[in-house]
Amino acid sequence: MRKKIIAGNWKMNMTATEAEMFLNEIKSRIQNATAEVVVCVPYLAVFAAIDATKGTDIRIGAQNMHYLDSGAYTGEISAPMLNEAGVEYVIIGHSERRMYNNETDESVNKKIIKALSANIIPLFCVGESLAQREENITEEVISKQIQKGFENISKDDAPKVVVAYEPIWAIGTGKTATDEQANEVCGFIRKVLKEKYEDTAEEISILYGGSVNENNIGGLMQMSDIDGALVGGASLKMSFAEIVHYGK
Ligand code: PGA
Repeated sequence: MRKKIIAGNWKMNMTATEAEMFLNEIKSRIQNATAEVVVCVPYLAVFAAIDATKGTDIRIGAQNMHYLDSGAYTGEISAPMLNEAGVEYVIIGHSERRMYNNETDESVNKKIIKALSANIIPLFCVGESLAQREENITEEVISKQIQKGFENISKDDAPKVVVAYEPIWAIGTGKTATDEQANEVCGFIRKVLKEKYEDTAEEISILYGGSVNENNIGGLMQMSDIDGALVGGASLKMSFAEIVHYGK
C-alpha cells in the first residue's frame, strides 16, 4: 500500500503570526485525516508552524532548499537548517521556481539527493505547460523531468521520493485536469519509473496538483495511480480540513 499524502503549498502567503493563528484554528479539524497531512510554509513561518502543530499529525514542510549544506549563497536555506528546525518535507522543483528562479532539471536532481541524505522527504514536482500539452509532447516533457530528477538515486532511495504531477495549465487557474487526465499522466510517470526501478516503482507515491479543492479531491483520490494531492490556493482556507478528510 502506497502512502497517501495531502500536502498544502502556501507559496508566498502567511506571516508567522498568520500561520500560527491559521494552524491553531484548523488543527483540531485535521485529526484522523484519511491521508498524511503536510503543510509547506514560508521559511519565516517554519518555527511558528512547528510550534502550533506539536502533538498533532500535521507535518511541516518547506518550499525549496539549496543543494549544498553551507557557503556563499546569499539568501539561500540549506538542509541542515531545515533539519534543525524540524522540517520533514520539502517541495523541490515547483513549476513557479522553474519559471521564476531558474530551477533546472540538474539543480532539482541535486536538491532531491541532498534532501534524501538529510532525511527530509522531497516532494518532487513535474508538469507540462499548456503549449506542450497542445503540441502533444506531454509524455516527452514528463519523461525527461522524471529521468533527470531520479538520476543517481538508488532503488532503495527511490520510494522515499514523493512525485507531484502538476500540469502548469491547471495551477491557480481553477482548471483542474479531469480525474482521467491526471491519472493518465500519473500512470505514465509510474511506467517511466518502472523502467528504472522495476517493481519498486509501485511503492512510490505520486500526487496530483493543480486547482485541487474539497469538491474534486474525492474523484481524484479514487484513481488508480493518484496517491494524494499538492494543494495551493485551497490550502489557505479552513476548507483544507475537508480536503484531508476526503471520502468520509
Ligand atoms: P493550486 O496550486 O492548487 O492553487 O492550483 C497548486 C500548486 O502550485 O502546488
